[in-house]
Amino acid sequence: MPLLIHLLLVVVVFFLSVVVGVATAGGTYDSAICERSVPCGDHVDIRYPFYLSNTTEVVNDGSSSGHCGYPGLGIICEGGDHAILRLGDHNYTILDISHDNHTVTVADSDVLDGTAGGGDCPRVRHNVTLPPVLTFTAPNNDSIAFFFDCNSTADAVRQPPPYIRPIVCGSFEGRQDRPSFVAAQPDVADETEWFGLCREVVVAPVLKNWLVNKENYDRLGRDGFGAVLKRGFQMSWDPTAGMCHGCEQSGGRCSYDANTTFLGCLCSDGHVSNTDCGSKMSRKRAITIGTSIAAGVLLLLLVVVSFLYIRKRRQYKMSSSSRLLKYTTSGGTPRSRGSSDKFMESGSFHYLQTHHFSYEELEEATDGFSDARELGDGGFGTVYKGELRDGRVVAVKRLYNNSCRRVEQFVNEAAILSRLRHPNLVLFYGCTSSRSRELLLVYEFVPNGTVADHLHGHRAPERALTWPLRLNIAVEAAAALGYLHAVEPPIVHRDVKTNNILLDANFHVKVADFGLSRLFPRDVTHVSTAPQGTPGYVDPEYHQCYQLTDKSDVYSFGVVLVELISSKPAVDVTRDRDEINLAGMAINKIQSCQVDQLVDHELGYSSDEATRKTMTMVAELAFLCLQHNGEMRPPIKEVVDVLRGIQDECRAEKGGKRDAPLASPCSPNTVHAPWDSMSTTPHTSQ
Ligand SMILES: *[C@@H]1O[C@H](CO)[C@@H](O)[C@H](O)[C@H]1NC(C)=O
Ligand SMILES: *[C@@H]1O[C@H](CO)[C@@H](O)[C@H](O)[C@H]1NC(C)=O
Ligand SMILES: *[C@@H]1O[C@H](CO)[C@@H](O)[C@H](O)[C@H]1NC(C)=O
Ligand SMILES: *[C@@H]1O[C@H](CO)[C@@H](O)[C@H](O)[C@H]1NC(C)=O
Ligand SMILES: *[C@@H]1O[C@H](CO)[C@@H](O)[C@H](O)[C@H]1NC(C)=O
Ligand SMILES: *[C@@H]1O[C@H](CO)[C@@H](O)[C@H](O)[C@H]1NC(C)=O
Ligand SMILES: *[C@@H]1O[C@H](CO)[C@@H](O)[C@H](O)[C@H]1NC(C)=O
Repeated sequence: MPLLIHLLLVVVVFFLSVVVGVATAGGTYDSAICERSVPCGDHVDIRYPFYLSNTTEVVNDGSSSGHCGYPGLGIICEGGDHAILRLGDHNYTILDISHDNHTVTVADSDVLDGTAGGGDCPRVRHNVTLPPVLTFTAPNNDSIAFFFDCNSTADAVRQPPPYIRPIVCGSFEGRQDRPSFVAAQPDVADETEWFGLCREVVVAPVLKNWLVNKENYDRLGRDGFGAVLKRGFQMSWDPTAGMCHGCEQSGGRCSYDANTTFLGCLCSDGHVSNTDCGSKMSRKRAITIGTSIAAGVLLLLLVVVSFLYIRKRRQYKMSSSSRLLKYTTSGGTPRSRGSSDKFMESGSFHYLQTHHFSYEELEEATDGFSDARELGDGGFGTVYKGELRDGRVVAVKRLYNNSCRRVEQFVNEAAILSRLRHPNLVLFYGCTSSRSRELLLVYEFVPNGTVADHLHGHRAPERALTWPLRLNIAVEAAAALGYLHAVEPPIVHRDVKTNNILLDANFHVKVADFGLSRLFPRDVTHVSTAPQGTPGYVDPEYHQCYQLTDKSDVYSFGVVLVELISSKPAVDVTRDRDEINLAGMAINKIQSCQVDQLVDHELGYSSDEATRKTMTMVAELAFLCLQHNGEMRPPIKEVVDVLRGIQDECRAEKGGKRDAPLASPCSPNTVHAPWDSMSTTPHTSQ
């Protein structure tokens, strides 16, 4: 104990000596300039830590000059009623200063006075640069991103996601041939592609409470962006940050020079100190700090002593108590999971990148879900074609299973879906919010039907899919699955089939219905409308372990490959008994070297050497994918590589045709084909 008292004394003496040493003078100044409060217009009083930027004569040491206020907070009072704060090299009009809340609200002067042109639809020309002492007032801040003069021939610009609004504002100064867009900035944080497609990108801070209002958000692309810009944005300063804090606590004001270097602490008696004014206030503070540190040291010593004491006692005890201790600590770890779950649930409005459509908007887009708009009836729900108010054509999926709990879960899943981006995956635009009365999913509309339609469905007579085209479909579909298997957490598609492989106008692949299986986990004891995979495509191992893995997708993809070379459906009861399943048929034929009895001869198998060779290679790859034992099947990544190799071979053999366009032109009266066909295999019923 005598040791402790000694320590305490040392600490207190140390702090008292610091306090005595602080108040050293360094010059004088006109104390009036710090107390001044200059009115500028009706709303703004210019006073510390702001200052009138045309009067900055504080003398310190007679060698340097500065102002009384924080660096960067000089205000120009234009015409006596127009307070301007310069941020970076641009003028911002001050709308309000709250000294109690340490906030200042400003708006871009160009936007307010119309020099940006456009009246209600101004064009912002620069990003905001904040001085170091100001920050945006989180969480009340938000920002909107402008994409000016975008390349109208780029796919992404022609079909922008719904949260990127074209600017359709009467007086907006944009170029007719190069459209401009606006979006809530958090919505587009990941849209890196857009930054390259537009001549100029500008991010403008705004007030969040305005933007989270649904009506305002919806009219963002019209006059909404002008309205929100005119309301300005808020910034805060933190008087407790930095070395100025001590000075202010002691009753002084801080002075900085034009280079934002701290010049000194301006004390009310007219002298300039290097640190603070050494008032009673600061002495009291030092003592407080000294005492609390001493108390802290005391506490620490106590803890150490008791720890040593306990350890000593423990040596006499049985080791079982330590085992118990271990057990309880490891039992506590699941807590950390809770916080990440909470994060997932907390998505407010557009903060998860999922865009939320209103039910009414989608009802209107689909003519009240009219039968005429129905595209198909898929595994998880009915799909309708819709047209959004902004003109975008979409596919709206109305899920069968709509219980509240599902909807809650879906909000989390939607966040995952929203992050999936691959050129060969159907783009997920968003869904209704969990508060909406029904769960609807909105996807990009893919116009050219499914691969099943073209192979053996109603569009088979068109014979649109040549062999090189089919090879390309195989490559692209495999690439999409490869992407799903590689994301974190990996996504098993679980329902790979030619009905879920859609084709766009140029016969490029868009794989549909991914990720939904995560939403409807297979539940053996529960009868669910979710498909347990589609007959003819299901991994035979599924019947043993009731679990679908990434290798199950590889199996299903093997069936797709066989369909591509044979033009036959996956299941056909009119075939011989042991050939009803295409997979079984393929394995028999390939094993007995009878590939010629499997393939579609109209593709050129017998007439063209390159075609025969590459079709055989695909048949062999399909054979590997269809292995009964999942572990024997190659991972999808390898399938992609092999297919690419075969495609190169095909192109090389065909020589001159190498650069030929991929697709034959699409007929103008293309039928809008179903998303999923109603019955998974049209040929089975009988
Ligand atoms: C500074 O600006 C204020 C407000 O516009 C004006 O009244 C004052 O005369 C100016 N002072 C100097 C030194 O220019
Ligand atoms: C900013 O305001 C000042 C003072 O009114 C003016 O002289 C200057 O031209 C303005 N700068 C711009 C870029 O508008
Ligand atoms: C300051 O903050 C309080 C509470 O957050 C708020 O009620 C008040 O309106 C704010 N004052 C100004 C001028 O913004
Ligand atoms: C809000 O302000 C914080 C802190 O300055 C910043 O990190 C965040 O990006 C801002 N949010 C938006 C949407 O601008
Ligand atoms: C616009 O995009 C197209 C295709 O994406 C590209 O070929 C063209 O060079 C781009 N034009 C400009 C001016 O960037
Ligand atoms: C504004 O900021 C964005 C993103 O922070 C950047 O991509 C863009 O180039 C900036 N624009 C200008 C005009 O500096
Ligand atoms: C600001 O800094 C520059 C370079 O660091 C220096 O040349 C200049 O004299 C400084 N100005 C003032 C007012 O201290």
